[in-house]
Amino acid sequence: MSDLVNITIDGTELSVPKGTLVVDAAKRIGVDIPVFCHHPKLEPVGMCRMCLVEIGLPMRDRATGELQFNEDGTPKLSFRGLQTGCTVVVSEGMVVRNSSQPVIEARESILEFLLSSHPLDCPICDKGGECPLQNLTMAHGKGTSRMDFSLKMKLDKNVPLGDLIFLDRERCIQCARCIRFQDEVVDDPVIQFHERGRHTEIVTYSDPGFDSYWSGNTTDICPVGALTTADFRFGARPWELVPVASLSPHSPAGANLVFSTRREAKTGGRSVIKRVMPRQNEQVNEIWISDLDRFVHHFADSEDRLTKPMIRKNGKLVEASWNEAMDLVAGKLQQHGTAVAGLSGDRLSNEDLFAFQKLIRKVGSHDIDLANGRLAGGDVVAQVGISSGSNLGDLGAGDAILVVASDLHEEEPIWWLRVKQAAERGAKLVVLNLRKTRLDAKATHVVHYAPGEALATVRQLVNAAKVETNGSSDPIDNAAEALIQSNHLVAFYGAEGLTYQETDGLARLLANLLLIKNEEAHAGRVNNGLIPVWPHNNTQGAWDMGINPAFGPGYKAVKEAGKDAQAIYAGAADGEVKALYVLGADPVGDSMLADRGQLDFMVVQELFLTETAKMADVILPAQSWAERDGTFTSGERRVQRYYPAI
Ligand code: SF4
Ligand code: FES
Repeated sequence: MSDLVNITIDGTELSVPKGTLVVDAAKRIGVDIPVFCHHPKLEPVGMCRMCLVEIGLPMRDRATGELQFNEDGTPKLSFRGLQTGCTVVVSEGMVVRNSSQPVIEARESILEFLLSSHPLDCPICDKGGECPLQNLTMAHGKGTSRMDFSLKMKLDKNVPLGDLIFLDRERCIQCARCIRFQDEVVDDPVIQFHERGRHTEIVTYSDPGFDSYWSGNTTDICPVGALTTADFRFGARPWELVPVASLSPHSPAGANLVFSTRREAKTGGRSVIKRVMPRQNEQVNEIWISDLDRFVHHFADSEDRLTKPMIRKNGKLVEASWNEAMDLVAGKLQQHGTAVAGLSGDRLSNEDLFAFQKLIRKVGSHDIDLANGRLAGGDVVAQVGISSGSNLGDLGAGDAILVVASDLHEEEPIWWLRVKQAAERGAKLVVLNLRKTRLDAKATHVVHYAPGEALATVRQLVNAAKVETNGSSDPIDNAAEALIQSNHLVAFYGAEGLTYQETDGLARLLANLLLIKNEEAHAGRVNNGLIPVWPHNNTQGAWDMGINPAFGPGYKAVKEAGKDAQAIYAGAADGEVKALYVLGADPVGDSMLADRGQLDFMVVQELFLTETAKMADVILPAQSWAERDGTFTSGERRVQRYYPAI
């Protein structure tokens, strides 16, 4: 039997997959059925009635079940009044009328009804200009109202639901998109309707209010200006904003963002980021971003940013020209040659990281490392990392995901969401940690090991995966069975409770698991592989670009490995390292480096006057990711580009 269903919408015949909703079927031929409560990522609820259409179904003879036909040979149809296109699924022979008089009148009435409780404050509303209610009123509204304006509800327009989100009670049209998102998508049901009828209102019942890492997404999907973010509220009008594609400067999953920028007089005509929204990428973050990705961009516009090079003169850091600073740095690096060391952060672009290691190696040193490496195994990931073309959104029944030593909800909410969704689609989820995490609730197998037992537990798991364990009641045997029998296997690993060296061992053990041949090894196939829960957005890129004493870009081993970060810190203390270049990192602030030790020279390239920068001989102000273009590589090894915004 065909998986397609033949229907007709406003006279146009089309075939759509079984299970398609009428609103979605209409979109396929460019027919726009207006909606408010419907959202493609949420379950249908049919709350607002904006999508009412006439739906006719072929009539059948009650006795024989045969189709009935008109004299002209067309099927007889039965129309049963107006129905919500967002809840009705297509069926064979269905005829939809989207522009008949009853439909037009129904839409006029629904809009008139919604506006009877809605303020007419579009000229000052953040949503004005990109507001579905405004747009649909223009497209389908009657233009007049039978409303007695003295009966309009006067409600609180400035209700903080939490620190980040404000509610304008008058504007809410009670579509429940926000409530459903929090409940259905991110499992944080912290907002709800309260009261009934015209008194219905959104309330938060968590303490603190709106206690969720995802709260900002509700402002994106709210079809009116009822929910606004604290940092964009009354900040700009949508038509003044210029979109710029970017990436999260924090997210190891590589969350795709779009900046809304505007040139402002108060910054001398320079563009500023007015808000951050998700950029749709169904393979990475769909249409959601965490609040960290959305709100923690303000540092780029901080007044405390370093803007001029500084040189230490007579014990004090004073402003200098670029030429003077660069000459001094170049001279000192040349002078100290093999005694130069480089430490970098892992939020910089691939291009910067490549250039940095090249500089350090050019002056004769392989003493280069991440200043504060917390998770090892980048070289292992290069071998068995998740394969090109993979999409966590494809994982479901028959597949398996392993999460070891990581609390994904805390460390990378995007991955937590993607793993949770895969588990909800039927993927086996094995969680190994020394404590309970939020993912446990979705897991099919949970093992809590004792502190210090992580590697032993994973080793036991890998060994169990190599043999038949049918009938075993051991939870690790059962978990191993689920993993090894899966069609696709993705393994996340973190550093919770582990030393840096232990995370290296963990990565190698998991590589063994992925390489076990059960007919075919998982490693190397699409939708299989290892994902490190890196601490930052471009830790993967730092490994790939050769920020490592043992290998250069592309993991090409160097003849003689240089000093790693710990040895560099020791070398600074005992005088073996003479000149230190710190790029986008704060080892002093991170308590990795106590003082300059016996360094002759230290240059720091940074956004801010960090604790490390305060000790430097030269400070070079750096550009933030928002001011330049470049690429980051996510933990899924996706190289993604971002563009200058400000
Ligand atoms: S606040 Fe917005 S998303 Fe939530 S119910 Fe009201 S209109 Fe809908
Ligand atoms: S969009 Fe169909 S009822 Fe709201």
